[in-house]
Amino acid sequence: MQNSLFIKAAFSQKTERPPVWMMRQAGRFMPQYWEIKNKYSFLEMCKTPEIAADVTMLPVDLLDIDAAILFSDILVTAEAMGGDLSFTNGIGPRFSNPVRSLNDVNSLATDVNDKLQYVADAIKVIQQRLNGKIPLIGFAGAPFTVMSYLVEGGSSKDFKLTKLMLHNEPELAHKLLSKIAKVTADYLNLQIDAGVNAVQIFDSWAQALSWDDYTEFSHRYISEIISNLNRKDIPVISFCKGSSVFAPLMAEAKPDVVSIDWNVDLLDIKKRLPQNIAVQGNLDPHILYADKKVIKERIYKLFERMRGENGFIFNLGHGIMPDIPFDNVKYAVEVIKEFKY
Ligand code: CP3
Repeated sequence: MQNSLFIKAAFSQKTERPPVWMMRQAGRFMPQYWEIKNKYSFLEMCKTPEIAADVTMLPVDLLDIDAAILFSDILVTAEAMGGDLSFTNGIGPRFSNPVRSLNDVNSLATDVNDKLQYVADAIKVIQQRLNGKIPLIGFAGAPFTVMSYLVEGGSSKDFKLTKLMLHNEPELAHKLLSKIAKVTADYLNLQIDAGVNAVQIFDSWAQALSWDDYTEFSHRYISEIISNLNRKDIPVISFCKGSSVFAPLMAEAKPDVVSIDWNVDLLDIKKRLPQNIAVQGNLDPHILYADKKVIKERIYKLFERMRGENGFIFNLGHGIMPDIPFDNVKYAVEVIKEFKY
């Protein structure tokens, strides 16, 4: 696996072209996903290893992508800690027992790998199916992003209650974040032991934070998690929405790759990071709605900019939207795979 394009690029080694995978590639933009989704609930899909493996393999088989990502969700850790999680079509995730008081925080469990064994089982099934063809990426949510779902009780536009906890009750917030960070490090180590070839930490909502709050309430816990990983030769990718601002701080947590949103010139930000840190990104996912001519032009523009750089993984600046035409995603992958440095 160390010779795969993806792992080489993640470790900033030279590759003949940039490897490609896309956040949220194991999901709703594929008609085949709906054939499975119509039969099971989302959590049933996550918790049944054979089904999680089927969905993980869809983009591998249909798109011939350079890395697979485990089909699961960042909120499974929060559920294992005691969150009563449900997913409703059109509404998204919900916790019926939001975490807002010291009592709530105290009642959360922190030794939960037993409850997440189904993920290890899924990883083993997926690795059998992949049979060494391409690497498998495992993942977890970053503590701040997971905390926001627990405190708000679901998705939020402004993270009002979460920020209020950070600002009015910082000790309580730290207590909650520490518990999530412990669970997250254990959970990523469980995935590594089960056989993933890389891990990504998703801090999707970091962009809501000021520099100081990001430093105190997010960066600190991501650093702690990364330093607690039994990394062996497993690259660690750190993603956040807001990375165009926070990338230099993200690099201090010592991941191998920083995943960049689309608000910034990728080469410019790469040059501001230590040489041994690779970048992943950073096409605006909305480009995949556009005409094929535009898709090709924008991909080539990004690649020409990154020509000659080691340590570049193609991805979107955030996940694929569910209504992006499948055909456009397939076309984008073909264009990328034709490119030579
Ligand atoms: O990348 C992949 O394809 C792997 C699978 C994956 C899912 N969720 C499957 C999923 C990954 C990596 C995630 C991560 C995740 N989950 C994040 C971080 C990534 C990001 O985009 O920023 C977040 C914030 C969540 C929380 C979550 N899960 C939300 C907000 C929702 C529903 C709302 C929505 O429209 O995205 C989910 C549900 C979810 N997770 C689905 C999938 C395929 C849709 C479930 C369905 O079919 O209804």
